[in-house]
Amino acid sequence: MVELHGLTKVFKNIRAVDNLSFRVEEEIYGLLGENGAGKTTTLRMLVAMVKPPSGTAKINGKDLIKEPEAIRSIVHEPKVMLFDEPTSGLDVGSVREVHDFIRFCKEEGKTIIFSSHSMAEVEKLCDKIGIIHKGKLIEEGSIEVLKEKYKTDNLEELFMEFGR
Ligand SMILES: Nc1ncnc2c1ncn2[C@@H]1O[C@H](COP(=O)(O)OP(=O)(O)OP(=O)(O)O)[C@@H](O)[C@H]1O
Ligand SMILES: [Mg+2]
Repeated sequence: MVELHGLTKVFKNIRAVDNLSFRVEEEIYGLLGENGAGKTTTLRMLVAMVKPPSGTAKINGKDLIKEPEAIRSIVHEPKVMLFDEPTSGLDVGSVREVHDFIRFCKEEGKTIIFSSHSMAEVEKLCDKIGIIHKGKLIEEGSIEVLKEKYKTDNLEELFMEFGR
């Protein structure tokens, strides 16, 4: 399980990740957002590649700040898998292979977060999505619940609205 608590990262004057909190169980969680929204910085903090100046996260109960080493071994025998735009630039066949692999990982009981620009992709794959905008989580939920909430079948449209 992955839990973020007020995770924040500031580069000079840019709040790349701004007080981000969310929780991922044994499911596929899609992190969506426009260029520069903060997806990559969030994922890098979760694998202890970038130290967050404030907030923290727990991966399978291990604290990212207090036990970064424990998190790096978890990464070698992963119960948790993070994918940063894994299908970007791939052809249709390769995209399918990546998707099959991610589904296989879920069947193995892994907790998965992946970032994407493609609403169609997350609709196909994810149990839950989080939409990130200027470092903040501005919406979260299952695809079904979001469609119901915004009374639309077209989440691509909805995503464009959030980006404005
Ligand atoms: N090492 C760094 N130094 C300074 N600013 C950075 C650094 N890394 C990221 N940023 C800034 O932090 C913000 C978030 O960037 P990040 O790469 O996390 O976004 P992203 O959602 O992954 O975007 P993309 O969809 O383009 O991959 C941006 O404003 C970016 O310019
Ligand atoms: Mg990125």
